[in-house]
Amino acid sequence: MAKTIRKYLIAGNWKMNKTASEGAELVNEINLAVGKQSEVGVVVCPPFTALESCITALEDSNVQLGAQNMHPKQEGAYTGEVSAVMLRSLFCTYVILGHSERREYFKETDAFINEKVLAALESSLKPILCVGETLDQREAGETMSVVKTQLVDGLKGVTADAAENLVVAYEPVWAIGTGKTATPEMAQEVHKFIRDELGAILGNGAAAKVRILYGGSMKPENASELLDQPDIDGGLIGGASLKSKSFVELVEIARSK
Ligand code: 13P
Repeated sequence: MAKTIRKYLIAGNWKMNKTASEGAELVNEINLAVGKQSEVGVVVCPPFTALESCITALEDSNVQLGAQNMHPKQEGAYTGEVSAVMLRSLFCTYVILGHSERREYFKETDAFINEKVLAALESSLKPILCVGETLDQREAGETMSVVKTQLVDGLKGVTADAAENLVVAYEPVWAIGTGKTATPEMAQEVHKFIRDELGAILGNGAAAKVRILYGGSMKPENASELLDQPDIDGGLIGGASLKSKSFVELVEIARSK
């Protein structure tokens, strides 16, 4: 059910999928199946335009809402952006930050992502900070150094008291949407490294409280072995979060642990 002090977290990253009404329908199905249980944390992260319809469908539910991005400033002349305060006003609890798609397509840097992490924590939004290497970086033996830089620079100024509200997602870029998953051993090796680095940044006691999710083609067929690894505390799910059946199955697998 949980790993010592950490409760499993299954989070769905819908990316640029689902209209407001389609989102409400999906969330309704998820809610009916797992909205009452609280052994496993369940989060859905719809696009901004579906946040309101989803939270309406989630009244009295244990399923929580997250956004996929935000701007670090609270308000101002930043056309097309939304702030932490705006997300809080729609009852978001989590926000995904530094996803590899944002790093790649929108040129987000660790410094900018760091500003967002700090702004999210300040507004009581829980950041899900994404880190992970590309295939070229893995093949060049750079996985750990890439992940370390993303962690150290992304978490500048974050203190130990934020640990319970902080989530890190390890998403090897080569495993996202490709059907290729890291083997449980490969993933655990990086998760353990992340936990140790978090220890250096926040202290070991705080690092033990941070949930580290695996992301990258995670689905019911491969989730159990991944979740059995000592430092894998859940999943950040893309494709398999777009259908209630597979997403609910993932929550049930985590519940069975
Ligand atoms: P897939 O599960 O579709 O590989 O996506 C993973 C991901 O990027 C979640 O943030």
